[in-house]
Amino acid sequence: MSATLARVPLCTLDDLPVGLGRPFRVGDTPIAVFRTRAGKVFAVDATCPHRGGPLADGMLAGDQVVCPYHAFRFHADTGACDQPGVCSIATYPVEVIDGAVTVTL
Ligand code: FES
Repeated sequence: MSATLARVPLCTLDDLPVGLGRPFRVGDTPIAVFRTRAGKVFAVDATCPHRGGPLADGMLAGDQVVCPYHAFRFHADTGACDQPGVCSIATYPVEVIDGAVTVTL
């Protein structure tokens, strides 16, 4: 059985600092939303699968989130980690329409 997906309004584009992350909670799910310097907006799990680092506090390296604890990197599109043996993180579709940011979970 699969869960029903819902598009949830999050914030305005201006609420997202360029080059940084912001934490949000959608229902019971903590997510981290990023806005890259190139203008891309994406959402991923908020918690690093390595040792629980807060990914919203991480830096961006291009399209990768760098965990603030041990600098493992996770790709924005796939959630894949650059370290062998570390689980990938979930990624969530984001839309920006007329400056309004929504995420689908
Ligand atoms: S907790 Fe994220 S890399 Fe270790």
